[in-house]
Amino acid sequence: MIDKIETLLSEIEQMTASNLEELEALRIKFMSKKGVIPSLMDDFRNVPSEQKREIGVKINELKQKTSEKINLLKEQFENKDSGIMDIDLTRTAYPVPLGTRHPISIVKEEINDIFKRLGFSISEGPEVEDDWHVFSSLNFADDHPARDMQDTFFIQNDPQIVLRTHTSSVQTRVMENTEPPIRIICPGRVYRNEAISYRAHCFFHQVEALYIDKDVSFADLKQALLFFAKEMFGEETKIRLRPSYFPFTEPSAEMDISCNICGGKGCPFCKHTGWVEILGCGMVDPNVLENCSIDSKVYSGYALGMGIERITNLKYQVKDLRMFSENDLRFLDQFKSAN
Ligand code: DAH
Repeated sequence: MIDKIETLLSEIEQMTASNLEELEALRIKFMSKKGVIPSLMDDFRNVPSEQKREIGVKINELKQKTSEKINLLKEQFENKDSGIMDIDLTRTAYPVPLGTRHPISIVKEEINDIFKRLGFSISEGPEVEDDWHVFSSLNFADDHPARDMQDTFFIQNDPQIVLRTHTSSVQTRVMENTEPPIRIICPGRVYRNEAISYRAHCFFHQVEALYIDKDVSFADLKQALLFFAKEMFGEETKIRLRPSYFPFTEPSAEMDISCNICGGKGCPFCKHTGWVEILGCGMVDPNVLENCSIDSKVYSGYALGMGIERITNLKYQVKDLRMFSENDLRFLDQFKSAN
């Protein structure tokens, strides 16, 4: 009898069922009134009394293991059923990784927002431009070095069609077609034939601002610059203007801000001067106004232009310009919190 019980024990251990009906059949086979276990109990009555103890323990073990196994299998089926109910079929199979805005876009929008608060609106122009809008209308003399092959990409060797080297070209496009007052900013990509290195690239981004109206003065320009610098780099930022030269502005200046990395004390970034240059600006040259059929005796205006990469470098201290165009996710992911 012991052998019979041992065989049943191993049968129970290996017992499987593929659905609830099969399981119920097994339960009936082993546990129902006329099942295997009750019939063992019947046989138990005839066991000699000296074996009763040993066999009694074994039968109890079999009874317990059988009901445990049947309950276990039952639970599995029940869980499987409720598992099916829990699945949300509208969910995506894998988590969808969220992208981030590019640092250049983040800073471009920040610059746009600051000028929008001063009443400027956005204008855009083509990247493939003609010589007139990039150079001639902006008062570049025929032999100006910026027209040199080394700076400018020409399209199909046609000296009249170029990739714009600055967003100042949008100024003239707007002035030609708009009656003053004009108050625009022109963000966009520009191209120069430069050897690519950590500090120069053959394409980069600029934002240009132009304000034309009656009685616009250098003081208006200076106030707009100060407002921009403080909004962009913090209330404590100082500015200074140095005389400079651009063909399309007279007088022209370059603006430095107090180095926001060392707070003006001097560091390698500002070459220990405490100041960093961030943009070019000036009063629009009367020739440029006249080129666009705007009466320079009635109207005056200011313009300014800055490189977005330069501003981004100052804000985020990116040491290598090439990182902006390599699309390395390890770099781009770092701007998640700025999005
Ligand atoms: N176009 C100039 C450049 O690419 C930047 C610039 C300087 C724009 C002075 C201006 C300005 O509008 O007034 O370097």
